[in-house]
Amino acid sequence: MNVSIVGSGYVGTTVAACFADLGHEVVNVDIDEDVVDAINGGEAPIHEAGLSERIAAHGGDRLRATTDYGAVRETDVTFLALPTPSNADGSIDLSIMQAGAESLGTALADKDGDHLVVVKSTVVPGSTEEEIGPRIEAGGDLTAGEDFDIAMNPEFLREGTAVEDFLNPDKVVFGANNERAYATIQTVYEPLIEAADGGVPVVETGVREAEMIKYANNAFLAAKVSLINDIGNVCKEFGVDAYEVAEAIGLDDRIGEQFLRSGVGFGGSCFPKDVSAIVAAAHDAGYTPQMLEAALTVNDLQPERLLDLLDGHADVAGERVAVLGLSFKPGTDDVRNSRAIPVIEGLRERGAEVVAYDPVATEEMREHFPDIAYADSGADALKGAHGAVVVTDWDEFAALDSEFDAMDEPVVVDGRRVVERRDDITYEGLTW
Ligand code: UGA
Repeated sequence: MNVSIVGSGYVGTTVAACFADLGHEVVNVDIDEDVVDAINGGEAPIHEAGLSERIAAHGGDRLRATTDYGAVRETDVTFLALPTPSNADGSIDLSIMQAGAESLGTALADKDGDHLVVVKSTVVPGSTEEEIGPRIEAGGDLTAGEDFDIAMNPEFLREGTAVEDFLNPDKVVFGANNERAYATIQTVYEPLIEAADGGVPVVETGVREAEMIKYANNAFLAAKVSLINDIGNVCKEFGVDAYEVAEAIGLDDRIGEQFLRSGVGFGGSCFPKDVSAIVAAAHDAGYTPQMLEAALTVNDLQPERLLDLLDGHADVAGERVAVLGLSFKPGTDDVRNSRAIPVIEGLRERGAEVVAYDPVATEEMREHFPDIAYADSGADALKGAHGAVVVTDWDEFAALDSEFDAMDEPVVVDGRRVVERRDDITYEGLTW
């Protein structure tokens, strides 16, 4: 098929490269010329395992990029994979989607034949039909259901494992309101479903349901992390190891073993933003979602609990403190909503001299905190420090050993259970 994808962030670029790899002719539309040039030159604009080889194989050939929305006219289906950031109050900001939808409508006005528009971005229920569809109509003087169909197909890939997750999903969700739309999106996904290990369940549902499924998925997982953090905080008060508890309860199929790693909390571009957006949307609709609000509250508390534990062992005012890990999770240089941000802020409020280290995310964090010190290795960060906090579960922190001897005051507070408890340092686990 001929497929266009508007937006080349984590989702858009991954989807474009994978669909090209599965045999479709793909064009990626983005306003950023550098990104467009990179893709056409066979280079990946973002770092994701398995992406660069796919873009190298198809970039400039079966996968093209352009800044011109007119390219969508040569395609049968357009995926909108544009960002949906937060407003200051946590609610969803649809302005980028709306502007993209309008440009898409203008381009589609001159197209003959059927066209399916698929919303890939995470949007609150009602957005596709009430905000995005009407903008496409307005952009090209078109009528939804006649001149084009609109569908919603949420994406569940994770940063760091985006290609693998996209190609082997645990489900695909098609939200539409007519048979023609279901049939088109089925055809787009057919090669993926055939190639995936062990088949893929297809959920055909309504547009609003598809929108909500994405929020429910992320909100459930975020709340699961906050629930195990809440339980973990109780464990800590009783001197119980939350990881031993989690291992046992995870054996109950009704609970499941994943997302039970308690610690300094969840970050990234999705969980914090999406839980805030669905909470704000629920408030607008007149309902207070108390469990989801609690998920955010617990998450906000964890960095301060980490620092309270450090306070219990060392007065850090005027002292050097090492922050190990800056990205929101290992395997990525993304620092958006990383727990390292509140941890560094809290240390600075205490008057500490922060020395931060991350294997890949230093430059990204420098934009948030230009005037703290950055070390070139974990060992360098620890030298002369009066305490260290572990914020990201990078494997290399597990290998730190004699490096702790170089600390002035060997206190380590671990927010991710990476460093092994040891006799020669004062070790505190956040929930163990
Ligand atoms: C998340 C979802 O997992 C994806 O399914 C979804 O598609 C994506 O958001 C999105 O909406 O685009 P992602 O944000 O890339 O993916 O990262 P996760 O691996 O889910 O981790 C999120 C945060 O939770 C990280 O900060 C991680 O450290 C934390 N976490 C995760 C824990 O603290 N404990 C756990 O047990 C698991």
